[in-house]
Amino acid sequence: METTNESLQNKGNEKLSLDTFQQLRDLIYEKCGIFYAENKKYLVENRLMRRLEEFGFNTFEEYLYFLKYDLRKNNELSFLFDAITTNETSFFRNPPQLEAFEKGVLPLVIENLKKSSNSKMRIWSSASSTGEEPYTLAIILSENRAIMSGISTEIMASDISEGVLSSARKGVYGTNSIRSTSKYLIDKYFIVNSDTYTIKPEIKNMVKFSNINLYDQLKMKTMRGFDVIFCRNVLIYFDDKAKKQIIGSLYDSLNPNGYLLIGHSESLHNISRAFKLVNFNRMPVYKKE
Ligand SMILES: C[S@@+](CC[C@H](N)C(=O)[O-])C[C@H]1O[C@@H](n2cnc3c(N)ncnc32)[C@H](O)[C@@H]1O
Repeated sequence: METTNESLQNKGNEKLSLDTFQQLRDLIYEKCGIFYAENKKYLVENRLMRRLEEFGFNTFEEYLYFLKYDLRKNNELSFLFDAITTNETSFFRNPPQLEAFEKGVLPLVIENLKKSSNSKMRIWSSASSTGEEPYTLAIILSENRAIMSGISTEIMASDISEGVLSSARKGVYGTNSIRSTSKYLIDKYFIVNSDTYTIKPEIKNMVKFSNINLYDQLKMKTMRGFDVIFCRNVLIYFDDKAKKQIIGSLYDSLNPNGYLLIGHSESLHNISRAFKLVNFNRMPVYKKE
C-alpha cells in the first residue's frame, strides 16, 4: 500500500464516521463475537488508527474495504484481533477461585478419572492471553503431584490474538504479571533476572498454545474431551447471543462431570441452564452433569 507524506498527515485528522464504524463493528462481531456499542467508537478508532498508519491506509473506508474484499484479508484480520482485544491478565489472578479449583475441583476430577480408569486429565485455558493463566494452572498441578499419581496431564491454552500467543510461548514476564505470586513459587518456578521472570522449562513444557476463536463453531467442534475449562474475563466482551453460542460450544467440549470456570464478574444467568452451579468455599463453579 502506497503512502505519501501528505496522506500520512491527512491520516492524523482522519476520523471514523458513524457509518463506517457500524460496518466495522458488524464485521468484528461476525468474525469474533465481540460487540462494540456506539459509545465505544472512540476506542475502536484509537486502537485502529495505529494499524492504518502502519499499513498505509489513508482512510477507515479503505481499511474496511480491504478487510471485506482483499485476498489478504485473513492475515489482516489477525492484526485486527490483536488491536481490538483487551489482554489484561496476571499469574494467580483471582486467588480464591484458584483455591476452589485446587482444593475443590481438582480432587473431584482426579477421583472421577480414577473411577473411570482414565489416566489423563485435560485442562483448557480458552482465552489464555499472554499465558499467565495456563502457566498458573501448570504450577498448581505441579504443586499437587502427590495426589495425582498415575494421572498424566495436558494443558491446552488458546486465544484469538496471535500477538499474545507469541508472547505466551516465550514465557517471559515483567513485575506486574507476578504481583500476586508468592516468593516461594517465584523462586521455584521462574528464572529471575533483575526484573524479568522467565517461566522454567518444566512448566513451559506442560502447556501447548494454539489459535482458537471461541466464536468459530467449526473450530470449536474439534475441541472435545476436557475435564476442566477456564474461560475467564472474556465473556464480558460478547453480547448474549454470542455468549450463548460460546457457552454451548464449551459445554460440548467438556466431559461429563467436567467443570467450567468463568471470571468473577461474569455469570451464566440467562445464558445457559445446562450446567449445575456448585460452590466451593463460596466460589461458584459450573459443572456438566
Ligand atoms: C482479559 S483477557 C483474559 C485472560 C485470562 N483468561 C484471565 O482471566 O486473566 C481476554 C482474552 O480473550 C481473548 N479473546 C477475545 N475474543 C476472543 C475470541 N473470540 N476467541 C478467543 N479468545 C478471545 C483476547 O485476545 C484476550 O487475550
